[in-house]
Amino acid sequence: MHGISKNRIPTLFGLLAGVAFLSTLPAHAAHAATPPANVENGRYLARAADCEVCHTEEGGTPYAGGRAFNLPGIGVMYAPNITPDKTAGIGAWTDQQFVDAVRKGISPGWKHLYPAMPYPAYARMSDAQVRDIRAYLATLPPSSKKTPENSVKFPFSIRSFMVFWNILNGPASSYPDDPGKSAEWNRGRYLVEGPGHCGDCHTPRTLSFGLDSSKTLGGSPVNGWRAYNLTSDKLSGLGAWSDQDLAQYLSTGHADGHGTASGDMADVVGHSLRYLNEQDIHAMVVYLRSIPPLRTEADLVERKTPPAGDSTLPQTTRGARLYASACAGCHTADGTGRQSSFGTITGARSLGADNGRNLVQVLVQGSGMQTATGVQIMPHFTGGGLSDRDLADIASFVMTHFTTATPHNMEQAVRDAKQAP
Ligand code: HEC
Ligand code: HEC
Ligand code: HEC
Repeated sequence: MHGISKNRIPTLFGLLAGVAFLSTLPAHAAHAATPPANVENGRYLARAADCEVCHTEEGGTPYAGGRAFNLPGIGVMYAPNITPDKTAGIGAWTDQQFVDAVRKGISPGWKHLYPAMPYPAYARMSDAQVRDIRAYLATLPPSSKKTPENSVKFPFSIRSFMVFWNILNGPASSYPDDPGKSAEWNRGRYLVEGPGHCGDCHTPRTLSFGLDSSKTLGGSPVNGWRAYNLTSDKLSGLGAWSDQDLAQYLSTGHADGHGTASGDMADVVGHSLRYLNEQDIHAMVVYLRSIPPLRTEADLVERKTPPAGDSTLPQTTRGARLYASACAGCHTADGTGRQSSFGTITGARSLGADNGRNLVQVLVQGSGMQTATGVQIMPHFTGGGLSDRDLADIASFVMTHFTTATPHNMEQAVRDAKQAP
């Protein structure tokens, strides 16, 4: 679980206090506090591109780096400090060096970056847009925190190896709008394929770890979770979602009938998508609608909706009894949230898809998401007296109570989730 403690989102109270404070200032002082347009644009883009979530260690100074990325078979790498510190950060870089790192994956001294940094997607941004991000980063307080050394295995340890990778999978470039499509569609394509780098998680990878362009946004495993199919397939993708539900899920992390974003998607919503304006969210919806349908077995789930208001659980199995004691305090027997709608999990794909992969992950790791009304937390259930078998039984109950899925090997699934990076 990333991204909870490190966030600097002001509380609602802080926000109100800030507004009250501003309104007591003389008009010119309030005006002077408005950042220049390029800084403002850079901040918006940095959010759309989710730079902070990767470049911040849990509980650490924003953008001071240190978050570890464990790529099985390749090694561990750390996102660097990109605050304006002249030695530990990027304060001494020229704008062009910054643009080359973000759009081409080449840092000063021909240091080829690994694609854990989504530069192939960021190449969709223009040089000018990336310079705006730099202008925003330059306004942050510098941090002298040193980035730990990567420990990457041979041959990946040779950075120039990435030259070949780039030839195979490498950065595209910004491209002109498609005149045959609407302005909204073009904006949506830019946001999804560029700063949003949705495909980095939602598109399956080829043997060389590049994105498989024949299965764009067709769903993929990522960090032990499943990033679901986003194509317009009706059963395994987003084809059956209404525009409104999709816009609501993207901008708030929840849509009734589709559950609540958890895992990495909770980070994407909490740090990035919820800051996008309504037009941009709408543009992404328009673009996602146009992705040709692709049927994926792993994402198929047939929902079984327990009757609304059902307060009796069929307490005949161990799993059902455990659900009643461990889960029903927040999610009622019919799956509606007791404290807030974020706890309403009815209809969520994770209740059954991919042999309950994300369901098991959320039990083992918990999840948390920043929302406009505070952090929504799903606690994890490891330790606290619940064995692997208990978690497996809970998962099996959830899968069969809410969906028609047939759980198999759930204890192994729990152990696998505990091993995931
Ligand atoms: C998914 C995680 C992730 C996201 C999102 C991300 N980065 Fe990175 N970034 C990394 C990692 C990991 C590295 C180091 C890669 C390496 O060691 O080769 C890196 C490297 C960099 C570097 C090179 C720093 C150096 O010292 O060489 C810069 C600059 C950078 N990122 C800027 C950005 C900006 C700006 C954004 C948003 C537009 C961003 N990153 C988004 C993970 C990420
Ligand atoms: C860092 C990885 C990552 C990135 C980047 C990412 N996603 Fe996701 N996404 C996930 C995961 C994991 C899930 C499953 C979440 C869950 O189980 O609650 C998910 C779920 C979703 C869902 C719900 C699908 C369903 O059937 O329930 C939508 C919609 C979605 N993502 C859209 C997007 C869009 C649009 C972008 C780009 C702006 C994006 N995602 C970027 C990892 C990611
Ligand atoms: C303290 C309240 C609380 C308890 C107890 C709790 N949950 Fe949750 N659960 C939440 C919240 C809040 C979310 C939304 C998570 C987020 O924002 O990332 C959630 C999300 C979920 C999801 C949706 C994940 C997705 O990807 O769509 C599932 C499934 C789930 N919980 C199952 C369970 C099960 C099973 C138990 C019992 C072992 C349980 N929860 C116990 C509060 C709770």
